[in-house]
Formats: sequence, structure tokens, C-alpha cells
Amino acid sequence: MKEQQMTNFWSVENNVDNLLESPEILEAAQLLKHNEVVAFPTETVYGLGGNAQSDIAIERIFNAKGRPSDNPLIVHVSKREDVLDYVNQTTEVSERLMDAFWPGPLTLIFEHNETLSKKVTAGLSTVGIRVPDDPVALAVIEASGCPIAAPSANTSGRPSPTTAAHVEEDLSGKIAGIVDGGSTGVGLESTVVDCTGVVPMILRPGGITKEQLEEVVGEVAVDPSLMEEKEAPRSPGMKYTHYAPKAEMTLVHGSDAFFQQQIDQAVEEGLTVGILVPKEKDERFTGAVRTEVCGEAGQIESVARELYGALRRFDSGESIDVIFAQTVGEASLGQAVMNRLRKAAGNRVIVEE
Ligand code: TXA
Ligand code: MG
Repeated sequence: MKEQQMTNFWSVENNVDNLLESPEILEAAQLLKHNEVVAFPTETVYGLGGNAQSDIAIERIFNAKGRPSDNPLIVHVSKREDVLDYVNQTTEVSERLMDAFWPGPLTLIFEHNETLSKKVTAGLSTVGIRVPDDPVALAVIEASGCPIAAPSANTSGRPSPTTAAHVEEDLSGKIAGIVDGGSTGVGLESTVVDCTGVVPMILRPGGITKEQLEEVVGEVAVDPSLMEEKEAPRSPGMKYTHYAPKAEMTLVHGSDAFFQQQIDQAVEEGLTVGILVPKEKDERFTGAVRTEVCGEAGQIESVARELYGALRRFDSGESIDVIFAQTVGEASLGQAVMNRLRKAAGNRVIVEE
């Protein structure tokens, strides 16, 4: 058994303008300076931060999460200029993307200059960096005075945390502190874009959509492994089953009648069924012992925002055997939502003929 640690818990209002002087932020930053690890909100999901130049801090992150060490971390900085301290060069494409989307849910991959801990980059020649769009995150980073490596603040394999309570559930007793700044806005992680080549490539769909990127830089490629199972992903993290609830989840592509058939069939087989549905369909189906509502149909932002919380709810309370969820359209944020749903479902999709 690993030793338990006292986890500080600080609540901060994110709409005050002197965050940099708030004692909670300063305490969290002080711990980061001393290579402890601290969770804080970003606009996407909560991150588990540590000094990106300290091997000790980065080891603490990997240990607390139980994360495989070949999966590199994203480095968070509070202003765009700081990127130049850690990378060899920026490209025209990356400049345009930083101008358009930072601060925001976009992580860019650069060739690094070897000033960060090798454990952050998992030995790769590249590093992912972003400026988050959240006043609490920016204040924590700024006050720490370090580049902050921060993966999502969940136990590896569980849905990413969108509230401080989710972080507590997974990491209490394993990290130095949690800064509670309320629920995160986007609800899914940042888009990871490799801009080391001529054509930028999406390695992980996320908060900034392909359509938004294309408006700024023209053609954008998508890592073929995101489309086809056979290819090895270029973003190491994408090969792991992520975001998975404990019950086996299956996606259903088809009509409501077809969805009801899947529930009926499972019930007939003696299975207890949970379903994940948008608000409008809360009462539409029968036979499920658990119904978790996730966003509103036709409002993909709300589905994205509530997805991880809904997946986590399936893991608490009365246990179920299987979960069914309907697929969503893949336009705009739908691409990221479907990517996370497929992962949560271990790629099980039933399609109506
Ligand atoms: O929204 C986010 O990005 C959140 C918040 C906390 O900022 N962070 C996050 O980090 O999602 P994490 O560690 O859960 O996911 C990082 C992803 C992984 O899929 C990882 O493989 C990929 O980024 N990644 C990091 N560095 C990379 C690199 N040099 N090349 C390719 N992929 C990289
Ligand atoms: Mg993660």
C-alpha cells in the first residue's frame, strides 16, 4: 500500500479580479513550486498539475493517476510568449492557430528544446503545449512561475473530471491539493494538433472543432487511426481504453424503436440495463433500471459538457450490467463527443440495417 497524503481543498470564485493575490491560489502555487502536485480547473476538464521541469513532480503525477509512463503530458503556460522558452521554433501554421484559439482548448505539438523533464515528453522529440482559457488555471500557473504539466485529474482509465468532486473521488489522499473552481465549461479535453508538418493534423478531437481550425489554416488532416482501428495512433494516449464506465457500454446507431429493441433484448437475457439519453428522451424508453440524462439533443455543447459526469454516475449507486447510448452526429463538436463515446464503449457499435 502506498502512503496516503493529506489533500488540501481550496474553493475559489473564478469571477474575482485579484485571483493572483488570493491565499488559496498562492498556497496551491507554493506547493507546485515545491514539486508537489495539485489539481485545478481548466475550461476543458480538471488537470493534475506539476512542475514540468521537475522529474520528481512528473513522477508524482504518473503515480497518482496510475498512468502508463509512455503517455506524454500536455504542458500548460499562462501566456503565449512562454512557449518560446520550451520549443525550438514555431511555424506559420502554429502562429496562426495560437493567434486564433489561445487561450483555449487547443494543444499544439512542437519540437521541444530539451528544457522540460524527459518524463513529460515520454522521451519523444515533441511536446504538446496550451494556454488554458480559465482564470483560475491561469492564476495557478502564473503564480507558480513554472511551466505546468497537467493531464486530466482522473485515475487512468476513468472518465475525466469536470468537477472538483470528481477529482476528490479519484485522487483524494494521493495528491497535495485540489483547487475547486466549479464545473468546467467545455467538458471534453482540448483538441491536440500536430503542427510540425506542412499540413496540421488532429491527433485527438476536442474542444476546438476541425471546422474551426480549417477556417483559420485551410486544410487540416485527421490522424487515420481515429477513423480506422488498424492504424497505430500518433498520439500515444489515444491507444488506451479511456473514459470507460464499469458496466459494458454499447453505442446504438438507429431509430428510437431500434434502441428500445436493444434494451428489450438485454432485459430478456436477464441483464440489468442502463441508458444514456438526452433530456428530451428521459421518459421515452422502458425496461432500463438506470437512465442517465446527458445534455439536450441538437445542442451538442451541452452533451459534451455533461458526458463525463453522466458516465461517472453509472459507476455509483446500484450496479448495472450493460449501458446503451445512441450515437450523435459527427459535425462540429460531435466528432469529439463520438470519439469519447466510442472509447467508453470499447468500439462496440450496433447499427440498424
Ligand atoms: O484539455 C486537456 O487537454 C486536459 C486539460 C487538463 O488541459 N489535459 C489532458 O491531458 O487531456 P491528458 O494527459 O489527459 O491527455 C494528453 C493527450 C494524450 O492523448 C497524449 O498522448 C497527447 O495528449 N500528447 C501529449 N504530448 C504529445 C506529443 N508530444 N505527441 C502526441 N501526442 C501527445
Ligand atoms: Mg486524460
